[in-house]
Amino acid sequence: MNFQHIDFRQEDKTALVTISRAKQLNALNSDTISELLTAIKHAGSDDQIRGVLLTGAGDKAFAAGADIKEFLNKTTSQAVTLSRNGHELMRTIAELGKPVVALINGFALGGGLELALACHIRIASSQAKLGLPEVSLGLIPGYGGTQRLTQLVGKGKALEMMLTGEMIDAQDALKWGLVNHVVPPSDLREFAQSLLEKMYSRSPRAIAQVIAVVNAGFDQDANGMEAEIQSFSNCFGSADFQEGVSAFLEKRKPDF
Ligand code: CAA
Repeated sequence: MNFQHIDFRQEDKTALVTISRAKQLNALNSDTISELLTAIKHAGSDDQIRGVLLTGAGDKAFAAGADIKEFLNKTTSQAVTLSRNGHELMRTIAELGKPVVALINGFALGGGLELALACHIRIASSQAKLGLPEVSLGLIPGYGGTQRLTQLVGKGKALEMMLTGEMIDAQDALKWGLVNHVVPPSDLREFAQSLLEKMYSRSPRAIAQVIAVVNAGFDQDANGMEAEIQSFSNCFGSADFQEGVSAFLEKRKPDF
């Protein structure tokens, strides 16, 4: 697929999506948001793709936020559109029925951290710096960060990050539960790929259901427990269930 602001490549079962605006620290302008949405939707609909790695070009930034240069002279109604477009991308990632892993290779700030927060798993390089500095611009996070950061680290830590606007380092992010793992910068890709490979050996149908049911628990209009009951029971009619259980009984590895 050809894009101007991102790079999309498929390597076997993995889609590698890289924001390629390194000189601007991979700031998310509207076109980048729109290209990321197209790429993620494509990854979701292509059956050959089983997982997505999302990262930023260069060694300095994952993404340093929404593109502040686009903010000048925006009216409030244009800002509603800007925020809704960002939300649509983040929701599409969060609801994708395939694992999306953020490789946080440097700064993940503002909308850049919100992008990582929408992913299912976050792996940070030991040099990463994470923060929601919007209050220093007279703004608040606008791509879901107020909600997703709070869900991940709890209200106290989330408020501290958002009210001070300060960055935290990768080790603190790990301690706070904001990232799953911290690895040396050169190991980022390989470590994430090894996590994906474990998931590729599991039932893709069950993986999609886990994501959907966990999300249902955070959806005020849904009932997470009821979603689990329905989803669990529906697994019983699936080919993946037949294969998984047969493989166990026949003492072999399942072939999903
Ligand atoms: N938007 C647009 N351009 C950005 C950018 C951003 N968010 N972040 C960095 N850049 C650009 C800089 O303007 C600079 O471009 P030029 O060379 O053309 O001047 C280039 O990237 C390199 O940046 P710096 O020279 O500033 O690099 P640095 O190493 O000195 O500092 C930094 C790095 C601390 C990350 C600093 O760039 C910074 O503070 N960036 C802004 C971070 C921020 O406030 N993010 C939140 C944005 S608002 C938002 O995201 C709202 C939302 O929730 C949707």
